[in-house]
Amino acid sequence: SPVVAVLPAAGSGVRLGAGVPKAFVEIGGVPMLVRAVDGLLSSGVVGHVVVVVPVEQLRDAVGLLPDRPVTVVPGGADRTASVAAGLAAIGPDAEVVLVHDAARPLTPAGVVRRVVDAVRAGAPAVIPVLPVTDTVKTVDDSGTVVSTVDRSALRAVQTPQGFRARELRLAYARGPDPATDDAGLVEALGEPVATVAGDPLAFKVTTGWDLRLAGLLLEDASA
Ligand code: CTP
Ligand code: MG
Repeated sequence: SPVVAVLPAAGSGVRLGAGVPKAFVEIGGVPMLVRAVDGLLSSGVVGHVVVVVPVEQLRDAVGLLPDRPVTVVPGGADRTASVAAGLAAIGPDAEVVLVHDAARPLTPAGVVRRVVDAVRAGAPAVIPVLPVTDTVKTVDDSGTVVSTVDRSALRAVQTPQGFRARELRLAYARGPDPATDDAGLVEALGEPVATVAGDPLAFKVTTGWDLRLAGLLLEDASA
């Protein structure tokens, strides 16, 4: 049955500060959104990608993605609104929907396949996660430590997040909440959210440091 991915790529990238929307910034000569689309398609389990971009970049995005099974649609004011716009463009026959940040351009195909496999095995929602390796503390307003968090039960969350299409549509129909991620909306419906192993390469490019790291990792891989 068909797997469709929604790729939110409509952010402006304020923290990166590249002067163009983040998804259009190149890594090794290829824009992040192109890397993210091709990464999803190379998994062999994604049949179509709905790419959500800033309205001013619609034509550019279409031009960057020739000969690929994609639909390009304009996004909204925040990520949640952009995902909602992408969901609205998905055909009624989709049974599994992935939501994947364009800002994770080096995500390995194995992560995509693990997420899809877990949804197919019956989970209504699936997220890729990594253990938290740093010690984590809570502090008060003055910066004084209040407590040390037990890190053994903590996980850092990546994308793609995978869903049975029905549950994700229902979650968004209930009213999207910008304060949570896509899986959080399904969690709010009372549905269990399963986890699979993420991958360090699925990290999100947020700052200039991350962009530099992504470039170095690509050079390393092609050396
Ligand atoms: N996103 C989106 N629409 C928005 C905001 C974000 O589609 N209105 C997308 C981004 O393009 C990105 C993903 O959501 O692929 C994760 O968001 P983030 O890393 O925060 O990207 P930006 O919002 O672009 O960056 P910043 O917050 O630094 O401005
Ligand atoms: Mg943002």
